[in-house]
Amino acid sequence: MHSNHNRTLVNRLGFALLPFALALSTNTMAADTSTDNQVEVLNWWTSGGEAKALGALKDSLADQDIGWKNMPVAGGAGTNAMAVLRSRITSGNPPTAAQVLGYDAQDWAERDALSSLDDVAKAGKWDEVFPQPLQEFAKYEGHWIGAPFEIHSTNWVWANKSLMDELGIEQPKTWDDFIASLKKAKDAGYTGLAYGGQPWQDTTVFENVVLATGGADFYRQALINLDPKALDSDTMTQSFDHLRELLKYKDDNSPGRDWNLATAMVINGKALYQIMGDWAKGEFLNANLEPGKDFMCFRTPGTQDAVTFNSDLMIMFDTDDSEQQKMQQTMAKIIGSPEFQITFSQFKGSVPARMDLSADKLDVCAQRGYEQVKSAAKNHTLMGSLAHGYAAPASVKNAVFDIISSFVNSDMPSDVAAEQLAMAVKSATS
Ligand code: BGC
Repeated sequence: MHSNHNRTLVNRLGFALLPFALALSTNTMAADTSTDNQVEVLNWWTSGGEAKALGALKDSLADQDIGWKNMPVAGGAGTNAMAVLRSRITSGNPPTAAQVLGYDAQDWAERDALSSLDDVAKAGKWDEVFPQPLQEFAKYEGHWIGAPFEIHSTNWVWANKSLMDELGIEQPKTWDDFIASLKKAKDAGYTGLAYGGQPWQDTTVFENVVLATGGADFYRQALINLDPKALDSDTMTQSFDHLRELLKYKDDNSPGRDWNLATAMVINGKALYQIMGDWAKGEFLNANLEPGKDFMCFRTPGTQDAVTFNSDLMIMFDTDDSEQQKMQQTMAKIIGSPEFQITFSQFKGSVPARMDLSADKLDVCAQRGYEQVKSAAKNHTLMGSLAHGYAAPASVKNAVFDIISSFVNSDMPSDVAAEQLAMAVKSATS
């Protein structure tokens, strides 16, 4: 959180690329003058619903006479975006700001790359309005380093309502009912589970299954505390069994499919359900569909008492340019403001990250979701999502992605998967 950005950062990153980086940053100085009065924002919000939500930020900035330079990097959960961000920074050319997830925000703060948001946070009473489990990631060593856009949660099922009606399916409350309803859809010639076979999506589904199988304490012990005894346990083996069972209901074209294309299968009535974070709701809303009428939202059966969350944080890169600094502070202020928190979530599918707002303007799924987040925060069952950067550092997350995806794409036995999971986490942490 200091100035003299390029040199400090390159040194701290420990890259022996200083001459290269300085040459690049000199080259970009000419470009920088043309970025006067605009912010460059790196993000991975490229689907229909995501782009609409991002547009709300662009519009709010325009109201303050701040211009917009979008730096989109497609790819769900930000895996590609984070690679681009790293290369921008190592070449001494950081954007004004970037969308990141929890552990990545901490990582950049630790590398001293970020501007402090303490003044804005103090004026906006951020300490009082954002929930504690989120503050642990949006603050570093007691200082605010990220402006939270929203709270997403990953333990949701999105369902096509007319298919449910046609097949006589009631909202399933237990895992067995859930599987039975998938079977009904399959038997009737539909795809049960709209599935995107990409590593982060495999693990998003997996974390749902772990929570449904073992409950909140087990989820925490295994995926947050990374306890080897929980990772390689009977409950984990059973979780893999449940995942295997679920995979019977996906279609054969799932490998590599983007999450929003899987959502479209539910929207178009080709598939019954998708298990996905509530950014999926942004796609339904973008297609003018109404929750409760055209589509249904419910917590993944067996996970009703807990919320696995993630939140997009806007981090601002340290700069000597006082105009850029001002615009960063303005952007943070907008993101944390009550009006923006509501508007953004209305497009994005999320709920506000602030806990002090009226839910009146939220749709029925978000109203329920907002209450659930609040009660989970009270009951200590608001737990970070592993697939979305709030349970473990990127090295562990990526190691888990590899194991889960090899399980999904092979016939690896469940007990072997549990054992490999524990081993992969061990080597990523040692
Ligand atoms: C982000 C969401 C995004 C989703 C799909 C998640 O990690 O938090 O904002 O919509 O990935 O890309």
